[in-house]
Amino acid sequence: MANSKGTPSSGRSNLITPPSSPKHSKSSSNLCDNDLGPLENLRSSLDTHRAVSHTEDNIIICPFEVEYIKDHNGQNQIFGYGAWSTVFKGTCHRNTIASYGLLTPPSSPKPSPPILVAVKAPARKDAPLILRSEAQALSRLMSLDLNEERVATFHGILDRESSLVLAAHPLSLESYIKSHAQIARTSLVRENISSPVIGSSAIWLDLAHKLISTLEWLHNEAMTVHGDLKPGNVLLKPTTGLGSFSYHPLLIDFSSSQNLATEEITKNTLSAITLEYTAPELLSVRVLNDPKSTATTASDVFSMAVTLLVAATGETLVYPKEYQAFQRRHFAQSGHMILNNVRSFSMRVPRQGVVSRVLEKAVLKHDMGRISTSAWKQLVEDLLKDTKGELAKM
Ligand SMILES: Nc1ncnc2c1ncn2[C@@H]1O[C@H](COP(=O)(O)OP(=O)(O)O)[C@@H](O)[C@H]1O
Ligand SMILES: [Mg+2]
Repeated sequence: MANSKGTPSSGRSNLITPPSSPKHSKSSSNLCDNDLGPLENLRSSLDTHRAVSHTEDNIIICPFEVEYIKDHNGQNQIFGYGAWSTVFKGTCHRNTIASYGLLTPPSSPKPSPPILVAVKAPARKDAPLILRSEAQALSRLMSLDLNEERVATFHGILDRESSLVLAAHPLSLESYIKSHAQIARTSLVRENISSPVIGSSAIWLDLAHKLISTLEWLHNEAMTVHGDLKPGNVLLKPTTGLGSFSYHPLLIDFSSSQNLATEEITKNTLSAITLEYTAPELLSVRVLNDPKSTATTASDVFSMAVTLLVAATGETLVYPKEYQAFQRRHFAQSGHMILNNVRSFSMRVPRQGVVSRVLEKAVLKHDMGRISTSAWKQLVEDLLKDTKGELAKM
């Protein structure tokens, strides 16, 4: 049911009222996704027509008006929920960009379709601060080369609301893995019983290469630790480029990120972690309770390895859903054993197989030689060369 401000009541008790500023948050009742236009050109149109404006704390200000998309019951449509936020579907109208003096008004008599955006709004009292810090990280990332292949485009903040406006990508890696796990369950034959659920070893290796290259860029070019890598924080943008996994994986959710280029640390957000994807060294009571504890490049490597492991097993909870909370904690705390533990219920990670070869050094104890992202990327590239013909047949 819509509340008095026309915003959704989602059944989640911690959901605060989403923004309703007349300037930024109109409602759009008669739009559906099919009416929406491509969003690829938006950032470049904006950039060529104006210098991006920033807040005093260096956050890009969203230069256009956003309208929330409603369903036929008048409820705001939602892309997803996170630990800090609710992410709404919205649109931006090109004519509002023009009214901000950014684009020359369209000369064609046919109006262009609106552009789909995702509006990440705070969902807890303590979330605005976290979202502002995420907005700072995203603003930095947007200024770097190759960001559009690595990270979902950040259009800017709706300042008064501390809501983030992002390019929308409706498919997450988590949903992709879940749907392929379902397909794999119904099409089990002897030949594919030990293949990654997302298709084949070649497809999995291509995904691994894309994700690990992105993480290498994040650590070494963007000097940023993500801090919460998991399939739900990776969105998929279809691509026609080379490779057998036909999407660009884009990272989202920088709410736990750390800027390696400054001494300043982002507040400990480990309370919002997903246990099974978290590196074991972060899971001690001492680390969890220390306000100065942060994720690291090594813990990102571990979480990315679990993300890739799950793309092979299809089990997005990492361990089977029947496992109790205490068992999950126990397995997570002995994370360096994860490949062995997973082999006890999945045949899709055979010893000496491609998945094991890529992941084994990435799940080592952090002080026992866990691989760095640059060495990890190199390892995958060597494997791609070595197995070229071989993998095509797998
Ligand atoms: N740009 C986007 N396009 C489409 N869906 C999105 C986008 N950003 C987030 N979502 C959806 O919203 C969910 C929560 O977003 P996230 O950034 O992870 O929030 P939190 O920081 O609160 O965990 C995601 O798992 C995803 O399903
Ligand atoms: Mg998230």
